[in-house]
Amino acid sequence: MLSINAKTSLLGLIGNPVGHSISPLIHNTLSDRLGHNNAYLAFKVEQDDLCDAIKGAYALGVKGLNVTVPHKQAVIEHLVDIDPLAKAIGAVNTLVRVDGGFKGYNTDYLGLRRQMENDGVLIEGQEIIILGAGGASRAITFMCAEARAKKIYLLNRSVEKAVSLARDVNDYINCEQPVVIPMALTDYAKLSGRKYTVIQTTSKGLFPDVDGAPVEDEAFYELVSDAVDIIFNPYETKFMKLAAKHGARTYNGLGMLLYQGVAAYELWNDTSVDQKLCEEVYELMKREMGH
Ligand code: ATR
Repeated sequence: MLSINAKTSLLGLIGNPVGHSISPLIHNTLSDRLGHNNAYLAFKVEQDDLCDAIKGAYALGVKGLNVTVPHKQAVIEHLVDIDPLAKAIGAVNTLVRVDGGFKGYNTDYLGLRRQMENDGVLIEGQEIIILGAGGASRAITFMCAEARAKKIYLLNRSVEKAVSLARDVNDYINCEQPVVIPMALTDYAKLSGRKYTVIQTTSKGLFPDVDGAPVEDEAFYELVSDAVDIIFNPYETKFMKLAAKHGARTYNGLGMLLYQGVAAYELWNDTSVDQKLCEEVYELMKREMGH
């Protein structure tokens, strides 16, 4: 059990809403098991109060913060330093206390990378399909390009958003040939005759819209070898069900959520969290979500 005293370091989450966040469970369990004297709390912060919240947190000696919707972009102007990849992505979900303020990182992409590594889903040298070109997709498309995917087919309902994200990532990695190919969501018929890992980053299928998938056409699922959804509620999305029906291996987003937290915890506490403890926290998260 956590015992709070005068030497306890404060960690926390800022966002709006934060009332259902599972991050306190992740971080307080890690602190408890590793014997670190931390306490992690969730703070609901309105958009207009963001600057005061960051300044106040620094003044109070807060060691680190997670940042969630809607502050992941807006927080950047309140930082004293930023990790180069987080800067390129344009979104920060982790603040680490440094001299004079906080340094921003993006551990969302680290989370998915670690989950995929653990599950044996390869990125390097592979051709990968990403569905969606919103905020979540941005971090993931940068991650797959950084992890040396051979080609990334970026499929989005509004193709202009895919074009813009593809341009940003191709410029950042600066290869001779573009790695990210933007396409309309309906253009998968152009990807022929082989199997792909598909990462589903859209909000379609998220609770309570549990009967929806960004692509309903079953022919699409014939292309899928590994279906990675970043949604974890529901535990099995319609996208995963359709992919499984066509023989794909499927993964939900709970691992990504765990490992983005673990990566943040490692940054704040200058430690590394072993796989056995990660698995224990994963089981607690599952139970908390009723599985
Ligand atoms: P997030 O930060 O969760 O990524 P976002 O930035 O609003 O949220 O992006 C949502 C993504 O889900 C976008 O790619 C969006 O497609 P559009 O850019 O065309 O809006 C996608 N999306 C949302 N609803 C969808 C639907 N019904 N069908 C297909 N894609 C959908």
